[in-house]
Amino acid sequence: MAEKAWSGVFDEATDRRVEEFTQSVSFDRRLYAHDIRASIAHAQMLAKVGLISQDECRQIERALEEIRLEIEQDKFPFRSELEDIHMHVERALIERIGDVGRKLHTARSRNDQVATDMRLWVREAIDRIDQRLIDLQRAFVGRCQGDAGVILPGYTHLRRAQPVLAAHCWLAYCEKFQRDRERLADCRRRANVSSLGAAALVGTSLPIDREDVAKRLGFDGVAANSLDVSSDRDFIIEFAFVLALVAEHLSTWAEEWILWSTIEFNVIKLPEAFCTGSSIMPQKINPDVLELIRGKTARVVGNLQTLLVLVKGLPPAYNRDLQEDKQPLFDSFDTVAASLELAAPLVAGIELNREGIAERLDRGHLDATTLMEYLIGRGIPQRTAHGLVGRLVRKALDRGVRLADLAIEDFKEAHADLDEGVYDVLGVENAVAAMTSYASTGPEQVKQQVECWKERLIAVGENV
Ligand code: ARG
Repeated sequence: MAEKAWSGVFDEATDRRVEEFTQSVSFDRRLYAHDIRASIAHAQMLAKVGLISQDECRQIERALEEIRLEIEQDKFPFRSELEDIHMHVERALIERIGDVGRKLHTARSRNDQVATDMRLWVREAIDRIDQRLIDLQRAFVGRCQGDAGVILPGYTHLRRAQPVLAAHCWLAYCEKFQRDRERLADCRRRANVSSLGAAALVGTSLPIDREDVAKRLGFDGVAANSLDVSSDRDFIIEFAFVLALVAEHLSTWAEEWILWSTIEFNVIKLPEAFCTGSSIMPQKINPDVLELIRGKTARVVGNLQTLLVLVKGLPPAYNRDLQEDKQPLFDSFDTVAASLELAAPLVAGIELNREGIAERLDRGHLDATTLMEYLIGRGIPQRTAHGLVGRLVRKALDRGVRLADLAIEDFKEAHADLDEGVYDVLGVENAVAAMTSYASTGPEQVKQQVECWKERLIAVGENV
């Protein structure tokens, strides 16, 4: 029987089934580097305040570095009877340096230790997701120049609505992912405080220096209430929420491009390297990557739900339930990171079917709203103008023609004040060109926005 760190009070050995059931090392071994980093900072602080000697600190550091290397090289023996990554590292340390290793856990509990490890992990994970969001934004902005001037049918209710510049569509996604980046930055602020020194729940009687550990670990500050921080998982739930929202945004994009790449829409051609085929139908080129990005959103949203339910009604301070926070969070991160990694090259790799789009833009009376606005400009009340254009569209529908194909008599019959000027706003090019409001799809507005995005993306750093 392996001796447990806590076995002093026990007369009986732990049931093997209990060891299996309670272990977390199968999934929290992922925290090994963060755990070791935090332990080194903790040891250095213990040495600074005189709870261990400088020599002992050096021995601990050296042994922990060796353990890190062993884990990295896959030579480290993991065993479920040692529960979690924290116990594994500590046991290995004691096996190496004996009594000195037995001092590392001074003024520390696994409760503040696991919270610290998770904070370090979340901080790093946030930075990774952020960089992938930037890569995706770069891919969208990168399309804007080549696609400049391309007009697409804009849809609402999945019905043709008004014409829109392709670049405007690309930048719409940049905005969504920018908000996600802001949410990540906000979440990072609250994640980036040190919980070490809270000990089990009430702090410690030993003369520790929490600020010192926080500084060594790059935290912005120290959590102010030991009781609160020993169970605080807000930062985990917040990150899981931001990941869920990123996944939602990705799913909207995936859905749009699945539709757009069908024969029915025929707006884009997906890169074949990002499609897969059918085992029975030889002609099929399926958008499986996009479908899976859409589909995986379900799990990411489910993970958020899992975490919210996990903390519901938990009594204050640490409860073992909290061990269950890791798998959903890790899964959300892995899933969203993988989706983002494929999204950027896919965005860069599509081709717009310019001719096919141009041919079909005439259908759907996409210029009706611009015509209405033209009438408003001529002093006609909006509701009246709406009704007039509605009847003109009805006439065009009955004849199977575009609004631009109606005769000047038709317009004059609709309203006596109308003249040849109406033709200047008809047709999708004119309708797009007529847009002037801030952030509209007007060419000048879009050009400005593209410039703005280029500057913004130059300003943010290269890969982390
Ligand atoms: N494996 C545990 C977790 O992930 C570490 C903390 C355990 N603390 C305790 N007192 N049992 O939450």
